[in-house]
Formats: sequence, C-alpha cells, structure tokens
Amino acid sequence: MARSKSTRAPVLGIETSCDETAVAVYATGSGLLAHALYSQVDLHAVYGGVVPELASRDHVRRLLPLVGRVLEQAQVDRRALSGIAYTAGPGLVGALLVGASVARAMAWGLGVPCIGIHHMEAHLLAPMLEARPPEPPFVALLVSGGHTMLVHVRAMGDYVVLGETLDDAIGEAFDKTAKILGLGYPGGPALAALAERGDPGRFRFPRPMTDRPGLDFSFSGIKTFARHVLEDNGPEAAADIARAFEEAVVETLTIKARRALAQVEARTLVVAGGVSANRRLRAALADLGPREGVAVYFPRPEFCTDNGAMVALAGAIRLDAGEAAEDLRIGVRARWPLSELRPPGAR
Ligand code: KG4
Ligand code: ZN
Repeated sequence: MARSKSTRAPVLGIETSCDETAVAVYATGSGLLAHALYSQVDLHAVYGGVVPELASRDHVRRLLPLVGRVLEQAQVDRRALSGIAYTAGPGLVGALLVGASVARAMAWGLGVPCIGIHHMEAHLLAPMLEARPPEPPFVALLVSGGHTMLVHVRAMGDYVVLGETLDDAIGEAFDKTAKILGLGYPGGPALAALAERGDPGRFRFPRPMTDRPGLDFSFSGIKTFARHVLEDNGPEAAADIARAFEEAVVETLTIKARRALAQVEARTLVVAGGVSANRRLRAALADLGPREGVAVYFPRPEFCTDNGAMVALAGAIRLDAGEAAEDLRIGVRARWPLSELRPPGAR
C-alpha cells in the first residue's frame, strides 16, 4: 500500500453502520488527528441486541455534535478538510443512511469530495493506523459481529475471498452463546471475561469444519452444543462452557488462518474486526509468528471494534488517489461483496 509520504489536508471519517456513532480526522503524512465514538450499548442492552430503528434515531441525535467535538479536538476547521468519507455498507440501512446523508450534505456544503467506504475494507486497513503497518500481499482474517472471512489481500482494493461463514458470524456466535449463558449484550467481551474463570479441561466443543479441506466456517452448531451442555450440567457450569467455547473457536480460527496462509503462500497475517479484540484469539494467532515465521498484525483493541479512524484512513487513501463520488446520490448498501472493490482510483 505505497502511499506518498507528503502531508495532505485532513479527511473526516464517519462510521454509523451499526450501534456505534464514530468520527475521526486523519491526514496522510500526519496520521490520526482525533477520533471519538458514542456507543449505543446501553440503549440496546435492555432488548438483548441491536434494534435497527433505535440505532438510526440515535445516530441522528449523536452524529453532528460528535463531528463538532472531533474537529475541535483535532484543531481542524471544517473548511480545511480535503474530503469526507463515510461507511456506505455493509450494515443496517437506516443507520448507514444517517452517516451517508450527513457526509454528503457536509461535503456538498464545503465543496469537497466525498466517498462511501466498504466497512470490511475499513476493518482490514485498521492495523495500518499503527506504528508498524502491514504491507500487502497478506491474508486478512476478518472477525466481526456480521462477518467471518479469510481474504487474500493482493493489494488495497484487490480482494479475493478465500472463505467465509456459511451461517452465523463469529461475533454473532459469541453473542448468542453469551445469551444462552445468561450474559448481557454485547456478549463477546462478557463471555471472554467469564471464560477466564473456567476450567479448560472439563468440556470439549467441536472444531466445526476443520476435519475437511476448505476455508469456510460454520458457527451455528457450536452455540447449540453450548445450549445442550448447559442443559445437561446446569448454570454452575457456565464458566467452564464459556472457556470450552472460546478454546474451540480460537483453535478453529487458527487452523483456518494457517491453512489460508499456506494456500496462497503468504507470510503475513492481518487480523481485524470486533472479535480480534479477544485476548485468547490474539495470543493464539500472535503465536504463529515465532512458530511459523509469519508476521502477524492486529489493530490496537479500540480499533478492532467499529470506529471512525479506520473509515477516515480508508477514505484518505482513496481520496488521495483521486477517487470520489461523481454525483449527489446518497447511496448505501446493506449487502456489498468485498470482491467488488477496486484499487484506489481505479473505479
Ligand atoms: O466489528 P464490530 O465492532 O462490529 C461489526 O462490524 O459487527 O464487532 C462486534 C462484535 C460483537 O459480536 C462483539 O461481541 C464482538 O465483536 N467482540 C468480542 C470481543 N470484543 C468484541 N468477541 C469476543 N471477545 C471480545 N473481547
Ligand atoms: Zn465492524
């Protein structure tokens, strides 16, 4: 991802694809100038999951004040912005539309270019916000609430999906299993915390689809398995179940990541998305470094989950390459295959 080192004017990034209202300012050459987010966790917690209509309405309330706050933190006047990037999908359509409308309206008012960013491209670029950025080609393991994918990143915008989940996403499996165990929303971090107190040897969960070739995943069976073990052993077994679940998914993801690296003969692994904040997953994948000579990269934990910094970064790279929306349409997509993307400036 060779980028010119010269300093460019800052780009505003807006993320509203799900339950986080997030904003950041990033400038090529200078780096991340400011970022902040407003989490809707408390709003949705009482319902045990994200309620799309409530999410959209809360983005409407939070986004403009957050933009003001982040620009102030960055000490950037909005008239100094060179462009605006927003998450255009995949995600919840109503939630996406809020970010898209604000971004498009602001860009039109300021007379600067605007660009819609693919949420998963933003996730996979997040490790580039760190001091030691990865260089393509690499394999990306994208693990979030909505996606589980292994992607061969041949260059920025040149993505071959090697494998993905056939049913539940990994974050969804964490959240659903957490719910079965009586933990609140969002379940991933709560399940991981409970697993710390669990006995790793008491239960052994299946490692789905690891006994046959291929890079696809399936995580819906494992949550059903958790339900049965809980029914058979009672609620006092919850910590041991959480631990066994975590061991199984970490090993499954590690096996498939190694297989993907071998298949495309890559020596670099990038891990991103909300579940890459998981401590045990990070430890297991980081271990591929010394054991197999693979360079492994993660975003810092706060940039694993949804954030504005990754959107501003992806936007800056594409806007620097001269790419921008050519009309005033406010376009978002609930579904958007990553393989449809093109390198910066090429579409
Ligand atoms: O990337 P993200 O913030 O949103 C999506 O694009 O989906 O990912 C959210 C997902 C949720 O399912 C959440 O439970 C999970 O990431 N998650 C975790 C951890 N932190 C967040 N799962 C396991 N362990 C964690 N520490
Ligand atoms: Zn995400």
